[in-house]
Amino acid sequence: MMETLLAQNIVLSDKDFYRISDLVYEHCGINLHTGKKELVRARLAKLLRQRNFKTFQKYIKYVFADKNGKEFSILIDSLSTNLTSFFREKQHFDFLREKFLPLLMERKRKNRNFRIRVWSAGCSSGEEPYSIAITLLEEVAGQGRWDVKILATDISTTILDTARKGVYGPKRIAPLSGMQKNKYLMMHRVNREKVFEIAGSVRNIVIFKHLNLMKDWPIKAPLDFIFCRNVMIYFDKPTQQSLVNRFWDLLDSGGILFTGHSESLTGINHKFNYVQPTIYMKP
Ligand SMILES: C[S@@+](CC[C@H](N)C(=O)[O-])C[C@H]1O[C@@H](n2cnc3c(N)ncnc32)[C@H](O)[C@@H]1O
Repeated sequence: MMETLLAQNIVLSDKDFYRISDLVYEHCGINLHTGKKELVRARLAKLLRQRNFKTFQKYIKYVFADKNGKEFSILIDSLSTNLTSFFREKQHFDFLREKFLPLLMERKRKNRNFRIRVWSAGCSSGEEPYSIAITLLEEVAGQGRWDVKILATDISTTILDTARKGVYGPKRIAPLSGMQKNKYLMMHRVNREKVFEIAGSVRNIVIFKHLNLMKDWPIKAPLDFIFCRNVMIYFDKPTQQSLVNRFWDLLDSGGILFTGHSESLTGINHKFNYVQPTIYMKP
């Protein structure tokens, strides 16, 4: 309470706000326009208090001086939104199950290609790639010799640690069905509280890696589908345009790009076929 009150008193000048927003934009493409100034102030003021900085100027100087970039990562973490959930935007998983995977598998079987490659770009704390993995295990595994891998990447090392641990509280796992909970989660007790750990069968097909979408992507094409959901919304149009072009290059013909609920490709130059809202196919 006291900390919140004190944090409210730290002033963020326009000059300091622009220094922060320029730095964040250059590094990770997140577009902090002037409308976000109060949000930036509120989120960073807490960080300043915790680290005993009295002014933004002193804090910014410290961030710039920190050559290993650790403090900068902490700054980015506190400004970016990691909100996610299991089977978020259920229509994407229904589409995979009912429409896309049966056709993909049929096509691949004919070509005797049993490899399925997926990318969850901006995977946050892991719920998205684990939901994809469960869907693939249910639809694909157990049907012969499929080789399935999901690459899950994020810019935040802290959130990736959480994702790799793969341990979630009871509320977070609520979207899973009873059968999925039994099959793909292991229940433990920590200080009498129930927690649920992602089972090995799911973990084994997910590989977490640190990746900044603004930099190089050391990823082998072709991919069968890409989830980049609720990430591009933080970027400006030119950055979104460049990402969409790069996703196109990585996808196989017939591959799918899934975007977040408020991220249509309207206003972006692209050659994808529209399948249904937020689902795009490379012809
Ligand atoms: C709101 S979460 C979305 C999580 C998940 N895709 C979903 O829809 O539930 C956005 C994620 O994008 C990540 N992110 C933001 N900028 C990024 C960048 N330049 N490169 C990689 N990841 C980034 C954030 O760290 C955060 O975990």
